[in-house]
Amino acid sequence: MKLQFAAWPEVEEYLRANAGIIVPIGSTEQHGPTGLMGTDYIIPSAMAEAISERTGICCTPPITFGMAQHHLGFPGTISLRPSTYVSVLVDVIQSLARHGFRRIVFLNGHGGNIAPVLTAMNEFYAGISFHREGGHRDVLCKLISWWTPPKTAAEITEIFGDGDGAHATASEIAVTQFLHSRYIKPVSADLRPARKGAVSDIHNAYDYRDRFIDGRIGSDVRLCTPEGGQRVFDVATDEIAEECMAFFSS
Ligand code: NI
Repeated sequence: MKLQFAAWPEVEEYLRANAGIIVPIGSTEQHGPTGLMGTDYIIPSAMAEAISERTGICCTPPITFGMAQHHLGFPGTISLRPSTYVSVLVDVIQSLARHGFRRIVFLNGHGGNIAPVLTAMNEFYAGISFHREGGHRDVLCKLISWWTPPKTAAEITEIFGDGDGAHATASEIAVTQFLHSRYIKPVSADLRPARKGAVSDIHNAYDYRDRFIDGRIGSDVRLCTPEGGQRVFDVATDEIAEECMAFFSS
């Protein structure tokens, strides 16, 4: 069930038999000269919908903005500050908990979201812990960043190797090529190799743009194909569906 297409009695009915929900989260940010601005929410959103269609699990619409301040040196990037993002996430958890959802998976598409998501979960748990008679003590949250489960990570390495990189990765761009082939951007013949590095080396938008001039970190976008993207999407969707089902029945 996709929440945006459900009427409230359907949600009420779902909650009689189910406790789990998937919330896709991502970012609207630069992904180099060929990657889509929406890459980081398009992918987890499509995965959540595929899992929902297969299993009947409820998923929400994506939270399309995230914590992307370091990408603001590139036009089009929209960022929430970390404190704003944590507040948004806590309010989403509180809303779902109020209705009776007891297992909430944040299916994430952006590395910069990881710290604020974990903080939001702890904010929510702290709210429970400070009250001896507090409700929602049985509500558990889980973060899954789609590229991290072991079979998915192995598939990415097998297809893209070192050329996957750390930002605007070959794998994520390939998955968007599979999902939205009409928006595939041509790779120009004079594209220079992306400088290698780690996202953790970056502090702010100025230092990012100075050091990684086209926005990519270590990714070889010549490796991207819709076929490679489909392989990653299929493995990830299977693996994440299993992980969600195990969590929802825990
Ligand atoms: Ni990304």
